[in-house]
Amino acid sequence: MKQSVDWHSYWVREKPGFHEGKVNAYLQQYLSLFQLVPGDTIFMPLCGKAVDILWLAQQGFQVIGVELSGVAIESFFAESQLTYEKSSIPHFSCYQSPNITLYQGDLMDLQPSQLARCKLIYDRASIVAIESFNRAAYVQQLLRINPAAVPILLITLDYDQNVMQGPPFSVPVSEITSLYEPLYRIELLQSCEQIEERPNWRAKGLNSLLESALRLEAH
Ligand SMILES: C[S@@+](CC[C@H](N)C(=O)[O-])C[C@H]1O[C@@H](n2cnc3c(N)ncnc32)[C@H](O)[C@@H]1O
Repeated sequence: MKQSVDWHSYWVREKPGFHEGKVNAYLQQYLSLFQLVPGDTIFMPLCGKAVDILWLAQQGFQVIGVELSGVAIESFFAESQLTYEKSSIPHFSCYQSPNITLYQGDLMDLQPSQLARCKLIYDRASIVAIESFNRAAYVQQLLRINPAAVPILLITLDYDQNVMQGPPFSVPVSEITSLYEPLYRIELLQSCEQIEERPNWRAKGLNSLLESALRLEAH
């Protein structure tokens, strides 16, 4: 996918501000809605080095992630104190440890066979990392590799894009709805004003930053 954000240098250059360093609160609160059982597979597009990967694997889920940056993936394993095996497959380096498979490469190259048996897609800071001109392609690819249209737990952000440039970009619930609506019913689980938690965003001039957790289920 052609992007103007250089994610590879981003990971080398910066302490990633989007990295929570703890398990996502919405994931903990809402995972049970999806009635998964240990052994089920959860896919995390654009997974970074999210602590959520480890937390889900520790609950007994199989986690599959895709991430452009090898630096992010290797940091994930080092910080989680997990060993891994690394192999090369077409388009990807594949990092594996028990319950975890992380593909280093472009989401757009992933094939449906790589997500076979997936029961949930967990999108946190993923669609909001995609520029507006690529969002429809991102969603089309998620639908292509997920022909069973499994549920999605999606966390998005809404703020005044005229005041601050992304990433993360502002992707209002209305945009998520128009991107996914042909196939999915969208349920708003929770919206929280987050500007007080992000003083550096306020310093850039933002007065509001709305974070919303959504449940998407196929019609
Ligand atoms: C904002 S970060 C979010 C990471 C993670 N979801 C989290 O919650 O911490 C977005 C990540 O997407 C990765 N990325 C961007 N475009 C990608 C693509 N086309 N395929 C795979 N990964 C990509 C970036 O390297 C970055 O780590």
